[in-house]
Amino acid sequence: MKIETIAVHAGRGADASTGAVSAPIHLSTTFERGAEGDYPQGYVYSRSNNPNRTALEGALAAIEGGEAAAAFSSGLAATAAVFQALRPGDHVVLSGDTYHGTAKLVGELLAPWGLAVDVVDMAMPDEVKRAIRDETKLVWVETPSNPQLKITDIAAIAKIGRDAGALCACDNTWAPLIQRPLELGADLVVHSTTKYFGGHSDVTGGAVIAKSADAFFERVRTIQTTAGAVPSPFDCWLVHRGIQTLPWRMRAHCANAERIADFLAAHSAVEIVNYPSLTSHRGHEIAARQMSAFGGMLSFGVRGGREAAMRVAARVKVFTRATSLGGVESLIEHRASIPGEDPRTPQNLLRLSIGLENADDLLADLAQALG
Ligand SMILES: Cc1ncc(COP(=O)(O)O)c(C=O)c1O
Repeated sequence: MKIETIAVHAGRGADASTGAVSAPIHLSTTFERGAEGDYPQGYVYSRSNNPNRTALEGALAAIEGGEAAAAFSSGLAATAAVFQALRPGDHVVLSGDTYHGTAKLVGELLAPWGLAVDVVDMAMPDEVKRAIRDETKLVWVETPSNPQLKITDIAAIAKIGRDAGALCACDNTWAPLIQRPLELGADLVVHSTTKYFGGHSDVTGGAVIAKSADAFFERVRTIQTTAGAVPSPFDCWLVHRGIQTLPWRMRAHCANAERIADFLAAHSAVEIVNYPSLTSHRGHEIAARQMSAFGGMLSFGVRGGREAAMRVAARVKVFTRATSLGGVESLIEHRASIPGEDPRTPQNLLRLSIGLENADDLLADLAQALG
């Protein structure tokens, strides 16, 4: 079936006991045992499993084309589970332009725990090759990157990993559906479902989706149920509901973003636009090959430095000044002033998460804010 149909139906069916078309939320933390001490429905205790989580995980696996998925209470909990499934002494090659929370997790918690890490520019596959060692077990890709929209060639990096006997994980938070890492050779996909999957800025969650339900995925599963960073039944229900409209929302996010990128690229107050649809973008060719649309995120540099950028962010009326992305409402953010942000982030950079408003209104808002 096609992706829109999968999104509407995966992990669903009328409720067997009531006929309810929209799934009930199972708040129960515990499940009745049979007289023989067995678990007739397969559920024991909600940290280990829950009907809403099972349904969501089925939908997540179907959406990314994986064999199995594990849902977490946040994107970083999902990310942490992948790294923790490695062993102390294992070596990881990490994208230099990865989300700052991932870099902090690896640098402050997992490196002291015993992971060896090399940070490289993944836009240069030779750098990845050079960083590979006998102990390399994982190559971590994130593309498009945050906040400068650098593009990594997933197929090329996954092949380098595979040739070295390492897994390739791709944080696909910025490009669900429009980029298919498992088809491009990645072994694992990670999402912050807080973003496009939830889609309405009202739920925090994460997911690991595996190409095959192998021993490595079983370790991720063990970390999920044993360390216990699991999403609540209501959170699972919200993310699962978000998936139903994801294909259509992604289309509208991408169409709006392309128009805004074109408008900004032609504006005299704008120094640079980072959006991969633009032929001036360094990663345009690779993006055009590996993405079916260019996403709902972009960033741009304002002429006049930090003060000018802050002024633009202060003047918007339709955009909201806030962090995060992937919701129905458009957001604008001065990334360099966020605590923990990469110090290399330009001071004049504004990041936009393009929502589902009419693009004309977004363009008018940016036009008046740019002056
Ligand atoms: C690319 C990416 N990965 C992971 C995360 C972390 O997700 P969460 O905030 O749900 O823990 C984020 C959050 O912004 C992100 O942008």
